[in-house]
Amino acid sequence: MNVLITGGAGFIGSSLSLKLIELGYHVTVLDNLSKQIHGEFPEKSELFMRIKDKVEFIRGDVRSKEDLRGALNGADVVFHLAAETGTGQSMYEINRYVEVNINGTANLLDILANESNCVKKLIVASSRAVYGEGKYLCQTHGEVYPNPRLEEHLSMGDFNVKCPKCGENVEVLSTSEDSMIQPSSIYGFTKYGQESMCMIMGKALQIPVVVLRYQNVYGPGQSLKNPYTGILSIFSTRIKNGNEINIFEDGFESRDFVYIDDVVDATYRTIKSEQANYQVFNVGTGVSTTVSTVAAKLIENYQTPVNVNISRQYRIGDIRHNYADMANAFEKLSFIPKFSFEDGIKHFTDWVNKQEIQEDNYEKAMLEMKEKGLYK
Ligand SMILES: NC(=O)c1ccc[n+]([C@@H]2O[C@H](COP(=O)([O-])OP(=O)(O)OC[C@H]3O[C@@H](n4cnc5c(N)ncnc54)[C@H](O)[C@@H]3O)[C@@H](O)[C@H]2O)c1
Ligand SMILES: [Zn+2]
Repeated sequence: MNVLITGGAGFIGSSLSLKLIELGYHVTVLDNLSKQIHGEFPEKSELFMRIKDKVEFIRGDVRSKEDLRGALNGADVVFHLAAETGTGQSMYEINRYVEVNINGTANLLDILANESNCVKKLIVASSRAVYGEGKYLCQTHGEVYPNPRLEEHLSMGDFNVKCPKCGENVEVLSTSEDSMIQPSSIYGFTKYGQESMCMIMGKALQIPVVVLRYQNVYGPGQSLKNPYTGILSIFSTRIKNGNEINIFEDGFESRDFVYIDDVVDATYRTIKSEQANYQVFNVGTGVSTTVSTVAAKLIENYQTPVNVNISRQYRIGDIRHNYADMANAFEKLSFIPKFSFEDGIKHFTDWVNKQEIQEDNYEKAMLEMKEKGLYK
């Protein structure tokens, strides 16, 4: 079976490529080897080197129909992973995010709709960012979907999420797939655009579509060069350079961190499962971990005591908490994550210890946000 993975040289895509090859699939990768992920010499990037001689590699761009057309030739299954992925960056590079994520997907669907092809399934990588804050519990109003937090609260150091009906503090619940869609970033908006476009066209063309809403994915292979996304990478590069870690808000903000092998497992399960067709799945662990815990665990594992500054600064568009309700993936994909955060982070830090120490561009990225008024 022939599989095309767009963005297949990236963190998730390269791991997925290796797994599929191991299982006997023929894998084609279309990837532009973007500098933000692969560095100044992308042909030498570790991620690319992992797959270079194992897949049919096409260096090309999803913004080009011609590149996509070549890559789609003979593909039975398409995993659409190519995307710009920085939530913060998407708030001041709007056109770039729309061009790659929305128009790139439009190009793919245009070919599927108008040209002969043998695609029998399309799996699209979406994100928990589509939910914004996600689902919470108000003591008076039950389940609610809070709005983005207001600057007047954040600037006073009140980071709590409020009930949209009564304004009282609310408690986070696990977010299920049928939760309200309410992205608080352009990135989240484009991910929802991608999944909706694919779902609409998949139904029209009778090509089964599966949407995977990944939570915070981490593990070996994660770009240590990209200062715009991936909190474990950003913190690791800071620690390895002996620099202080700056934690936003009060450090109790939390995420659902899911280990790369589990993500690949869940993603792979969609190929054969008929039950998965036209479905949306959260891919996470269902467990939430605070950002302070992440920092402490990394410092412990690297045995490099850097200063941790809980700065009470904040970024516009950031959510407070989010973790996945995993019942649907369990029921329809029989997916159960195998890696606890403890185990996963150990594998991750062991891998980082073997990598070259990367230049720390975090302050530059933060300065960009500050100049745009998006970081206070
Ligand atoms: N990593 C996460 O935590 C996470 C969470 C939610 C969703 N996702 C989604 O999963 C997918 C893969 O994410 P990842 O973490 O592997 O990201 P990544 O940045 O490591 O990989 C993306 C790949 O796409 C390529 N790419 C970027 N723009 C392209 C273009 N215009 N044309 C062709 N290729 C292009 C990049 O070179 C890179 O190799 C993305 O769609 C992302 O939105 C990831
Ligand atoms: Zn209320």
